[in-house]
Amino acid sequence: MENLKAIILAAGKGTRMKSKMPKVLHKVCGKSMVECVIDEAAKLGCEGVCVVIGDKAEMVKESLEGKNVAFALQEQQLGTGHAVMQAADFIEDDKDVIILYGDTPLIKAETLEKFINFHRENKNSVSVISAIVEDSAGYGHIIRDSEGHFVKNVEYKDATEEEKLVKEINTGIYCFKGKDLKESLSKINNNNAQGEYYLPDTLEILLKEGKGVDAVSVGDVTEFAGVNSRVQLADAEKILKDRINRFHMENGVTIIDPANTYIGADVKIGMDTVIYPGCVIEGNTVIGEECKVGPSCRLTDMVLSDNVTIQFTTAMESSIGSGTKVGPYAYIRPNCKIGENIKLGDFVEVKNSVIGNGTKVSHLTYIGDADVGERINFGCGTVIVNYDGKKKYRTTIENDVFIGCNANLVAPVTLKEGSYVAAGSTVTKDVPEKNLAVARSRQVNIEGWTKK
Ligand code: UD1
Ligand code: MG
Repeated sequence: MENLKAIILAAGKGTRMKSKMPKVLHKVCGKSMVECVIDEAAKLGCEGVCVVIGDKAEMVKESLEGKNVAFALQEQQLGTGHAVMQAADFIEDDKDVIILYGDTPLIKAETLEKFINFHRENKNSVSVISAIVEDSAGYGHIIRDSEGHFVKNVEYKDATEEEKLVKEINTGIYCFKGKDLKESLSKINNNNAQGEYYLPDTLEILLKEGKGVDAVSVGDVTEFAGVNSRVQLADAEKILKDRINRFHMENGVTIIDPANTYIGADVKIGMDTVIYPGCVIEGNTVIGEECKVGPSCRLTDMVLSDNVTIQFTTAMESSIGSGTKVGPYAYIRPNCKIGENIKLGDFVEVKNSVIGNGTKVSHLTYIGDADVGERINFGCGTVIVNYDGKKKYRTTIENDVFIGCNANLVAPVTLKEGSYVAAGSTVTKDVPEKNLAVARSRQVNIEGWTKK
């Protein structure tokens, strides 16, 4: 949307979280609350986003490195109006400004868009999103006259007994004309029950100046839930999780048990993929089409091509080619490039390695710091000995190598194309092309030994 800027208030302490971390950095579905809000503002196409920070400002700033946002510092938390004032330089007279909270992570861009359209169609000076709730205690209440016209917002702590009965509350989301926002902010004071500069006091001020002010209900009440405690954080997590799962199902992904499937906000999944119960899929993971994921996988920042099968496995920061089968009980650590039509079986750990197409690593094997070619067979219990206690070394295994069971490959070492390693060998020297390496002592049978 054109001529639109956003200010996100995120300076508050969040005492009830009982945390060393600033409240807005707590995560829902793997993404910090303030980031959720920033991303929705970005979806709207805001021309600028300014985050007002205060409590542990540096931590919040650091966590948002790489995001296209400006910051304003509110050193003392003197109220929501005071917080917006700190961003005064960011407000432009002839642009609309939406005000959002960093602890309201469930807000949707599409709801904000409807809201801004309402604001602009009615040529309001300021509009606020209101909602009807059963328990309105604690919120700002929207007071209307007998004809239903907006009169003012009154904070719960300042409300009369009669006003406290009102069920229409202020969600805290506003859209202001820039100029009116700046001018009205200069007129608010802190003569109220909390001794704070209340942002919603600007509404009454603008209305009294004859300007268009209105409260409107858009979207779903759940979108405006603020998170103040760990319990509310878990409530928000559940709502967002359901929303994410539903999105993927609507896009052609089968989720066998949505209540037991945890997909991060930025994960992408292709059509006809099936997610079995007990999966946690996080970060920037991308999953192709027709994959079978789970039961019980944790995938973090993974890229899976089409037709990958992966079960009971933890995998991170790596890629898996199409047709590859992983697990049960495999562990893929960062920086692996695992090719196509590979089998990585039970109790196989891979780290910082490349594995070529068609290779079989069926069971009980460690592959670390290795460049592994195509069509290789790893016998059960192969260990790549990559570490001498001080340094790590790489191992190269060329195409069509066959490694017998229980072999140690002591790095740095190269197994040339088509070579063989006898079972039980500890290989410390390179093996030439098509050679068989036997690196174990010969068997001796001692006759009559048990009689002695
Ligand atoms: C505010 C509204 C209330 C509304 C409710 C909706 C005011 C005075 N009241 O109340 O009408 O119903 O939100 O949730 O605005 N913040 C700062 N600096 C400050 C104070 C607050 O950055 O000095 C931030 C907080 O971090 C938070 C947001 O503003 O993200 C809201 O502040 P909070 O203190 O929770 O306001 P409420 O009392 O909930
Ligand atoms: Mg609040």
